[in-house]
Amino acid sequence: MNKIEIHADLNTLAYAVAERIVTLAAGAIEAHGQFSIGLSGGSTPRSLYSLLATEEFRARIDWSCVHVFWGDERCVPPDHPDSNYRMAYSALLNHVPVVEANIHRIYGESDPSQAAAQYERVLREYFGAQGHFTARFDLLLQGMGADGHTASLFPDTAAIHERPWWVVENYVSKLDAWRITLTPEAINAAANVIFMVAGADKAETLREVLHGPYIPDKYPAQLVRPENGQVEWMVDAAAAALF
Ligand code: 6PG
Repeated sequence: MNKIEIHADLNTLAYAVAERIVTLAAGAIEAHGQFSIGLSGGSTPRSLYSLLATEEFRARIDWSCVHVFWGDERCVPPDHPDSNYRMAYSALLNHVPVVEANIHRIYGESDPSQAAAQYERVLREYFGAQGHFTARFDLLLQGMGADGHTASLFPDTAAIHERPWWVVENYVSKLDAWRITLTPEAINAAANVIFMVAGADKAETLREVLHGPYIPDKYPAQLVRPENGQVEWMVDAAAAALF
C-alpha cells in the first residue's frame, strides 16, 4: 500500500525526508547494527543531501554504522558532472564521518556489463553477510522522472523485465546512453522505499503512477511494490497538484 505525504515545497519536503532518514537509520542500527541506504541521483535529492550534511542533522545519524549504495549510476567517471556518486559525495558524503570503505559506488567508468556484474557481487556479498538472500536495503531513496522512470528503469527499456539479476546495464535510447541500475527485483526486496518527488513537471505522471491503471512499461515507477516492505511517497504540493 502506498503511503503519500504532501509537503508545501521542496524545502519542507527535504526536511521531512531527512527526519524520516534519521528515524529509519536509528531503527536499523538498533535492530541490526547497520543502516544500508541506496541513494538516488538527479537534482531533487541534492537539497536533501546538503541538509543531512548540516550540523542540525549530521550529528543525529551514527555514520560509523552507515553503508551507502546507489540505486543507479550514469556510465561516466566518478568525477564527471553527471555522476550520481559525485553529486552525493560533494553534497553529503564529503561532509559526514561515513567510513570510506562503506561507500559502495557503482563503477560508472567501467564497461557497463562489467560494472553491473561487479555491483551485483558487492550487493550479494554485503547482504549475504547480513544473512539475506535478497537485496534487503534498510532504505532505498528513489526519484521519479517526468516520464515515470525510477532509478534507471526507463519506459520501454530492457531493464524493466530483467530477472533474477539485482543490477543490470540498461541502454536508454532516448538519452543515447548506458546506465547501471537496480532491477525491480532488487528494489522490491527493500525494507523501506521513499520516493522523493517535487515539481509541477511531475504532476501529471505522478497522478497516473499513483492513481492510474497499472502500465509499468510506460510508468516503471509503478513496478516498486516491495514484497515485505513499505513505500512512502513524499512529494511537494506542486507534484501533487493533480491528485
Ligand atoms: C538519475 C536518478 C533518477 C532520478 C530521476 C528524477 O540517475 O537520474 O537516479 O532516477 O531520480 O531522473 O530526477 P530529478 O529528481 O532530477 O527530477
